[in-house]
Amino acid sequence: MTRTLLVAGNWKLHGSINMTIDLISSITNGLSANKKYNVAVFPPFVYLSQAVMAADKELLVGGQTLSVFDSGAYTGEISGTMLKDIGCQMVLVGHSERREYFAENDTDVAHKFEAAIKQGLSPILCCGETLEQRENGVTEEVVANQVNTVISLVGIEAFSNAVIAYEPIWAIGTGKVATSEQAQEVHAFIRALIAEKDATIAARLPILYGGSVKGSNAKEIFSMQDVDGGLIGGASLTANDFLAICQQADALSQ
Ligand code: 13P
Repeated sequence: MTRTLLVAGNWKLHGSINMTIDLISSITNGLSANKKYNVAVFPPFVYLSQAVMAADKELLVGGQTLSVFDSGAYTGEISGTMLKDIGCQMVLVGHSERREYFAENDTDVAHKFEAAIKQGLSPILCCGETLEQRENGVTEEVVANQVNTVISLVGIEAFSNAVIAYEPIWAIGTGKVATSEQAQEVHAFIRALIAEKDATIAARLPILYGGSVKGSNAKEIFSMQDVDGGLIGGASLTANDFLAICQQADALSQ
């Protein structure tokens, strides 16, 4: 079973109108014409419309989070319906920074995943352990809880239109990348967890690695059997760095 690689850029709290247009046009111009993998960008909400226009269907575009509500008196929220309305195809849910700084727990994340599926958006469910959890040997338990809470709420079928991103928190923005063996070990664990419920969905599910991915380490990580691309933070903010990662995906998907 071959899964299509996905290279996704999470811009976090970075950007401007000019950066959105320049970065996306440099990326689309720099991608090889016959690429066999997908590329997605996740700019801040206010730049999503520009991003959708600049991407011109060459790239997928998504939000970095979404409301659990669809509409109503919820000041400051952005719904899945709105993301869909402006042309987004995807949305991140449960990024560790949302969990840590905005107090999103596994249940909140599950409700966001559900909201995304209901609106026809493909959610990227982010999961991963802290350094302390890894050192205490509870990585699998933490990741299983993060994923199982979602499965309990939405059912396994919802994962046929979803992506999981394994992002060990100790590797995010630290320059400390997980070894390809460490990534593979957790990715295989996640796939087995899904396979317990539905082997076909598990075999098709893209599982991305995130955490200090760069052009210099992307190929080794992406070449692992259960790694289907990357969720890139810092290196997604400049076209050359991001394209260097895409070139590694090119080399692997020929
Ligand atoms: P870095 O690539 O900067 O480590 O960030 C990873 C990440 O959090 C992507 O969502």
